[in-house]
Amino acid sequence: MRFYLKPFDRRGVEEWIARNRQRYTKDGHGLWAMILKASRELIGDCGLVLQEVDGANEIEIAYHVRRDYWRQGLATEAARACRDFGFAKFSVERLISLIRPENVPSRRVAEKNGLTVWKEVARVGVPHLVYSIRRDNVGKS
Ligand SMILES: CC(C)(COP(=O)(O)OP(=O)(O)OC[C@H]1O[C@@H](n2cnc3c(N)ncnc32)[C@H](O)[C@@H]1OP(=O)(O)O)[C@@H](O)C(=O)NCCC(=O)NCCS
Repeated sequence: MRFYLKPFDRRGVEEWIARNRQRYTKDGHGLWAMILKASRELIGDCGLVLQEVDGANEIEIAYHVRRDYWRQGLATEAARACRDFGFAKFSVERLISLIRPENVPSRRVAEKNGLTVWKEVARVGVPHLVYSIRRDNVGKS
């Protein structure tokens, strides 16, 4: 949570769950549970989140993995599946990821799935890189 403004308290977690359930209904997507196939264990979340960037609606690929499962390629695998699902299911030309410049692991996940830096924006007063990939460029990197 060091790349977020502050960690969630209990209420923040409940609101986060409620927000994602609303996203499933309203947008048809949101952050989904990341389940390890071998053990059926919940190890994080990954999904597609509607974001407004510079006044335009964009769909973001987002991910969070439990610390004890970091560096096994799991975020990359899940994010790639969400990228492919996003382009297959929704008629968007572009998917994005909003990432703090200092969040190297998250940037690597984006880059490994073919996203490149498009522009920089301020979100809640903090600089963020907008990574993006166009539908036509999937599988080309
Ligand atoms: C970002 C995050 C999801 C990556 O999850 P992960 O499953 O460990 O990622 P992967 O194993 O797929 O690794 C992807 C790349 O990042 C690199 N990486 C992972 N952790 C790293 C670290 N702490 N420092 C440097 N590189 C790191 C991996 O080495 C890999 O790159 P490589 O193949 O070139 O070596 C995880 O660190 C996390 O949950 N962070 C907190 C939440 C967060 O910041 N989410 C993103 C918000 S924008």
